[in-house]
Amino acid sequence: MTAANWDKLGKHEQRDLATLFKADTQRVAKLTVEEAGLRFDLSKTHLDSDLLDDFAQLADGAGLAKAKEALFSGAVVNPTEGRAAEHTAERGNGNAEAVSSARRLQTRMRGLVEAIDAGALGEILHILHIGIGGSALGPKLLIDALGRDDARYDVKVVSNVDGSALAEAVKDMDPHKTIVAVASKTFTTTETLLNATSAMEWMREGGVADPYAQFVALTAYPDKAIEWGIDESRVLPFNEAVGGRYSLWCSIGFPVALGLGWAAYEELLEGAAAMDRHFRNAPPLVNAPTLAAFADLYYTQLKACQTRAIFAYDERLRLLPDYLQQLEMESNGKSVTADGEPLGRNSAPVTWGGVGTDAQHAVFQLLHQGTHLIPVEFLASKTPGHDFDPAHHETLLVNCFAQGAALMAGRQSDDGARNYAGNRPSATILLDDVTPSTVGALIAFYEHRTFVNAVLLGINPFDQFGVELGKEIAKSIGENGPSGFDASTTALIEAALGDV
Ligand code: F6P
Repeated sequence: MTAANWDKLGKHEQRDLATLFKADTQRVAKLTVEEAGLRFDLSKTHLDSDLLDDFAQLADGAGLAKAKEALFSGAVVNPTEGRAAEHTAERGNGNAEAVSSARRLQTRMRGLVEAIDAGALGEILHILHIGIGGSALGPKLLIDALGRDDARYDVKVVSNVDGSALAEAVKDMDPHKTIVAVASKTFTTTETLLNATSAMEWMREGGVADPYAQFVALTAYPDKAIEWGIDESRVLPFNEAVGGRYSLWCSIGFPVALGLGWAAYEELLEGAAAMDRHFRNAPPLVNAPTLAAFADLYYTQLKACQTRAIFAYDERLRLLPDYLQQLEMESNGKSVTADGEPLGRNSAPVTWGGVGTDAQHAVFQLLHQGTHLIPVEFLASKTPGHDFDPAHHETLLVNCFAQGAALMAGRQSDDGARNYAGNRPSATILLDDVTPSTVGALIAFYEHRTFVNAVLLGINPFDQFGVELGKEIAKSIGENGPSGFDASTTALIEAALGDV
């Protein structure tokens, strides 16, 4: 990857948002992209034509066009692990071999969905999906967003190793009528295997004679799942080149396909594929993921913003900030470039957020008047997810748009406590509705935006070595007890666990 030349960037006069709007009556049109049932309005960010030109040049210099082709063609884009990143192939956009391997997997997934629907595993009411990180966050988000009215099974996702999570999930499940989907790319993750073992125990104690027969494995290492005891016919193996946090498009999405039905799952993939095509083909200045990444980089690199906030003004998308935390922070929270050189710039900001309007009554004080500059992203749907009084949806949307307007315009007062400085940036993503297709496109948008950020920073977004050290230390404590650690850690272990 070529190191981008940042020196020229942002050397122009920086204008406030109100001035930018006054200076260009076409600003909204220029900074709005409509694609795949989504409207991305970036006009309330500080991007202007000078900055856009600079970023377009920076992207050129960083080889964005080549990097995109490398991504889509299945070239190695994860050099530290010597791998391609083939999540787009799962949606039909990638090298021919990866696309046909994805299609073969989909045929197997569909076959298993249909077999379960037809009663091949007996009467099934519940799906217990066990996984963590990328093996849980996608299914959790999608079931919560799309399965409210239309779920065909009761689906619960358990990730945390805290047994309370599993206990809560299974408390209303009938073990005889439950399928357990063990989702782990590596099939070595401690939390997942312990939860799976305890779920097996729960079934046995519930009187299920052969619990293994109700287990399905979703993994890139089928041999390990088979060795663990799951029959090969219920192991859905996926390509190792699909990263964990990009894996809801392959068999990690099995509970989504089973829970929502195959047609909905296909729609999800098609929505993502539409965004892939847009990202691949649209020129940078009308390319939603690319423009959004330019805005991200403006705030993190030129304004040193440490965080960015995402507020879903739609209950159906309430888990989106959690999902994006892994996508953005695990991908771009790095201190070195892909070549192993010090990054020398700010890495990804902290992603956080919540739901509107709740968040207005909790954290928006700081957004409006705190000393931090925090770029905000609002998400809303034109169509409500319920049949109650339309006043609910109107109030929700009105509040969403009012917040963006207030952050930008502010209101001057001589009374400092009542003064709103304004000029605070936001972007708004408006969905036609929350459907499998729009949610698929939305997630793909965030994936590509994360990729553009990485390319311009020179980061490899597809590895995650930062999570390994803590895992190793936990293992070592489990194996060797509290010896060889600092005094604080040793004292904590002894106080809580005694001799491990
Ligand atoms: O610990 C981080 C991580 O490796 C994530 O990248 C991944 O999504 C998660 O753990 C789960 O890993 P696996 O799917 O292999 O169980």
